[in-house]
Amino acid sequence: MTEVIIPVQLTMRWHRSIVIKQSSNATKQAEDPFAVMADRSPRGCESSGMESRIESDDTSTIPFPKRLFRGTQRRWRKALSHIVAKFAKWGARSSWFSWMYFAFWSRRMHREQRAMLAGWLKFQEEATNPVASCAQLRRGIHRLEKGLLMRPRRDVFGLDYIQDVFSTYKQMLMHAENCSTTSDELSWANDVLTEYFEVTTDHPKIDPLRQEFRNLTHPPTASAALHTPYKRDLSTPPPLSYDQLLILSQRRRSVRWFSPESVPRDVITKAVAIGGQSPSACNRQPFVLRIFDDPDLVQQVAKLPFGTAGYAHNIPVIAVVIGQLRNYFDARDRHLIYIDASLAAMGFIYALETQGIGTCCINWPDIEERERKMEQLLKLEPDERPIMLIALGYPDPEGMVAYSQKKPVEQLCRFNFE
Ligand SMILES: Cc1cc2nc3c(=O)[nH]c(=O)nc-3n(C[C@H](O)[C@H](O)[C@H](O)COP(=O)(O)O)c2cc1C
Repeated sequence: MTEVIIPVQLTMRWHRSIVIKQSSNATKQAEDPFAVMADRSPRGCESSGMESRIESDDTSTIPFPKRLFRGTQRRWRKALSHIVAKFAKWGARSSWFSWMYFAFWSRRMHREQRAMLAGWLKFQEEATNPVASCAQLRRGIHRLEKGLLMRPRRDVFGLDYIQDVFSTYKQMLMHAENCSTTSDELSWANDVLTEYFEVTTDHPKIDPLRQEFRNLTHPPTASAALHTPYKRDLSTPPPLSYDQLLILSQRRRSVRWFSPESVPRDVITKAVAIGGQSPSACNRQPFVLRIFDDPDLVQQVAKLPFGTAGYAHNIPVIAVVIGQLRNYFDARDRHLIYIDASLAAMGFIYALETQGIGTCCINWPDIEERERKMEQLLKLEPDERPIMLIALGYPDPEGMVAYSQKKPVEQLCRFNFE
C-alpha cells in the first residue's frame, strides 16, 4: 500500500507546486485540490458579486505555447482530481488514509490542530494557576450545581472531580487575597461549594475537603445574593411575547449599507451583555468579542475576510468573534467554541437590532494566509480561533437588504419519524 501512496503523494505535491507557481490571486488559495474541485469561485460561497472579475475566460489572445501548456495543465488537473477523489474515497472509509491526507497533503487542518494543543497546554496552566477566570473551575462548579438540583438529590456526588475543583478554587482564592471583593466567578464557586459541603453526607473523599473548606478565609463577596440553584419566579408571563419576537426576527436582515453615524460603545456593550446570557457547554463561555470602532482599525479588519468585498469601506464597527480553545482539557470538545460563540452571537445581534443597529455576519474560512494576518493584527494567542466577524452600525435608510427567503417550518423540523 505504501508503494502506491508515495508516488501519488509525490505527484500531488508536484502538482501543487505547479498550481501555486501558476497562481493568480484566485488559485493561490487552492492549496488543497478538494478546494479546487469543490469551489472554483476564488471567494467561496460568500462571494458578493460586488467585486471585480478576477479572471477572464477569453483565451483567443493567448499565444499558442502558453495555450498548449494550459491545456496540458488542465488535463493534469483533471487526472489529479480523479486521483484525489479516489484517495478521498479511501480516506472516507479509513481513518488511516484520512490521517495521511491531512498529514502529508493538505495543511487545512494544521492551524486548528496547533491551536488545540496550545489550548490544552493553557488549560493545564490555568488550572494550576488560575487568575481571573478558570475553565476547570467553571466546569467543575457547573457539575456540582447539576448535582445540587438533581431530583432526587444524592447524598454523595461529585467524587470524581471534587478534589480538582477544590484545588483550583483554593488557588484562585490565593490570587484574590489582595482584592477587596471577590470576583463573581469566585463568589459563585464559594456559594456552590458551601452548599455542596453542607448537603453531602460523610464520605472519606469529601470529609477532609469539607474540613479544609471551612477553615479557609473567604474574602467578602460583592453581592449578598446567593449564587446557588434556585426556583425561577414563573408567576408572571415572560416580558416579551412570541409575536414580538417573531416581528423582531423578521425585521432583522443582514445589513451591508450603514450610515456614517458612530455607534455609542454602551449600545454595543449592552448587546454583549445579552449575548453573554446565552447557554454554553458547562457554562464555560469560551469566546471573546474583539470589537473595533477606530475607523482605521475597522478598515484593516474589514478587509481581511473575502465576504466584505464591495462594502467594507462603509462599515463603522466590526466585531471579530474569537473562540478560545484553552477551555478544554480534550480535543473532543474543540467544536464547542463554534457552537457557544454562535449562540452568543445571535443574542448579541438581536440585542443590537432592538437598539436600531443593523448587523451582518461575515464568514471566516480557514485560509492560512488570512489566518496569519488576523493573528498578527489582533495579536491573537495561539489557542485563539477567529470564528466569524460581525459588521454593525446604524443602517443607511437608503440601503437595501436582501429578501433572503426562509425555509418553511416543515422543512426545518421533523417530529419523531413523521
Ligand atoms: C456564518 C455566516 C457567514 C456569513 N458570511 C457573510 C459574508 O462573508 N458576507 C456577507 O455579505 N454576508 C455573509 N453572511 C450573511 C448571509 O449571507 C445572510 O445571513 C443570509 O443570506 C441570510 O440573510 P439574512 O441575514 O438577511 O436573513 C453570513 C452569515 C452567516 C451566518
